[in-house]
Amino acid sequence: MKKIAVFCSGNGSNFQALIEAVRRKKLAASIALMVCDNPKAFALERAKKAGIPVVLIPPKLFEKREDYEKVVVQILKNQNVDAVVLAGFMRIFTGYFIGSFKNRIVNIHPSYLPAFKGAHAIQDAFRAKVQETGVTVHLVVEAVDAGPILAQEKVKILKKDSLEKLEKRIHAVEHKLYPKALQKFLKTL
Ligand code: GRF
Repeated sequence: MKKIAVFCSGNGSNFQALIEAVRRKKLAASIALMVCDNPKAFALERAKKAGIPVVLIPPKLFEKREDYEKVVVQILKNQNVDAVVLAGFMRIFTGYFIGSFKNRIVNIHPSYLPAFKGAHAIQDAFRAKVQETGVTVHLVVEAVDAGPILAQEKVKILKKDSLEKLEKRIHAVEHKLYPKALQKFLKTL
């Protein structure tokens, strides 16, 4: 069974979807720990409820990004984590971290990449008045939102959509696509 570490900064609804997929045996993995950089993240409650150990380290305790990452990498290696799963983790890694888990860091992004990279992808697509956007699961490389794509699904933007409605539909797609894509990816490791 592959061991994964999930990284969250906020709500953690994708983390929750992974917890449930593991429970329902749709995702053959064990979530060894959840790494969090934000003491106010709701994801912390979700981890507590699911009995998943939390590593909560505020990066501002460190002078350099690498120094923070070194501590995290050491914990992940110590736990024999096979893959790092980003689920709304709002930090950009240095080459050091990416090199430490080369081709083993997965992210979910709320657009049909390469369209709408960046931290406001849903809003950007909505404001651009395009007809469709989507969800992408991809490997993390140093360039942001640019790694090899593992899975993608389109989401139509309807005439009557509000940003909130669109967000809801995108998240619903994420919650199905992420466990499915991970299940496939982990088998290749
Ligand atoms: C998701 O939309 C994900 O695609 C993006 O950040 C959001 C995290 O949401 N990377 P949640 O914390 O999983 O609810």
